[in-house]
Amino acid sequence: MNGTFLVVRHLQQNVKAFETWFARCGTKQLSGGSGYLAIEEGSSRVRAFGALVPLAGDTRAAPPKAAAGPGIPSIFPFNWPAFLPQIDLIASPAFAAVAKHWLRAKWFGRWRDGTSLVRHQHQPGSTMRPRSPPDNDFTFAEDPTGFACPLGAHTRRANPRDTRFPGSDEELATTNRHRVLRVGRTYGETDPNNCRTLDPNDDDKGLLFMCLNGNIERQFEFVQKTWLLNPNLHGLENEVDPITGPGTFDPAIGWRVKTFTIPTTTGPLVLKNIPDLVTVKGGGYFFLPSRAFLRFLAS
Ligand code: HEM
Repeated sequence: MNGTFLVVRHLQQNVKAFETWFARCGTKQLSGGSGYLAIEEGSSRVRAFGALVPLAGDTRAAPPKAAAGPGIPSIFPFNWPAFLPQIDLIASPAFAAVAKHWLRAKWFGRWRDGTSLVRHQHQPGSTMRPRSPPDNDFTFAEDPTGFACPLGAHTRRANPRDTRFPGSDEELATTNRHRVLRVGRTYGETDPNNCRTLDPNDDDKGLLFMCLNGNIERQFEFVQKTWLLNPNLHGLENEVDPITGPGTFDPAIGWRVKTFTIPTTTGPLVLKNIPDLVTVKGGGYFFLPSRAFLRFLAS
């Protein structure tokens, strides 16, 4: 066979489901000064929290600046753990914006600017001085416990590197056999009021995922089945990829929900009842003949 294989997936992203879940959670500070972040779901059904411990020697007081619209990064010059205890989480829209930004980063394993949580645990690289560009040259031996990048984060699942055996070159060589050449394109109607964003009132938006594989079974299908959708990957229990993974139907709630665990130094922060955020609308497998093969056919 002279060519390669293209996998395409039409993935609709349910942005409103995320916003609704986040609004229902309510973020609440439990204990003054100790830096607890609590996520509460509905009444007291879920009440999980983890401590975000101030960095040693960091006594900076972070004034709770108001987040200016989408300019969330403006509040990131502060270091997160130092910033957290300063504000009333419920009353502060600025905190809600930061919490959302932080949660998304934990789910993906990367900040919105593309920098890794492994190398930039507390704030996005683009807000640091000197500025850090998006990075990829790390291994999880630098973060074996997942305090920086959770064990179930999308990128840690999609490419676990050496998570199983930190520091092992053999493990890196093994996981590298499953890598894909990947590109994504967002789709959706443009916001009539802002040509740089998508229309918030149009629900049909998401990602056209494409990747090239020499062997679909060993690459795309393996990544999806064995890593992204594996409920017990990395010692987790009943968790799937927070982005693409389907939840389990909960009759008490009426929709499919899933759980995501964020390890912290004083215990796991467990987020529950997360709704499905992505719906597969279609896709296909295609053969891309090589130029040599096309020349052969044409001759
Ligand atoms: C709507 C669905 C998805 C969204 C929003 C999404 C988003 C992201 C983001 C933001 C990143 C990090 C930045 C980057 O490297 O591009 C990423 C990385 C990645 N994603 Fe996804 N993704 C989705 C679906 C998928 C699917 C279906 C797969 C494969 C089955 C996949 C595999 C990967 C891989 C392999 C990486 C690179 C991990 C690394 O090497 O660090 N993604 N994705």
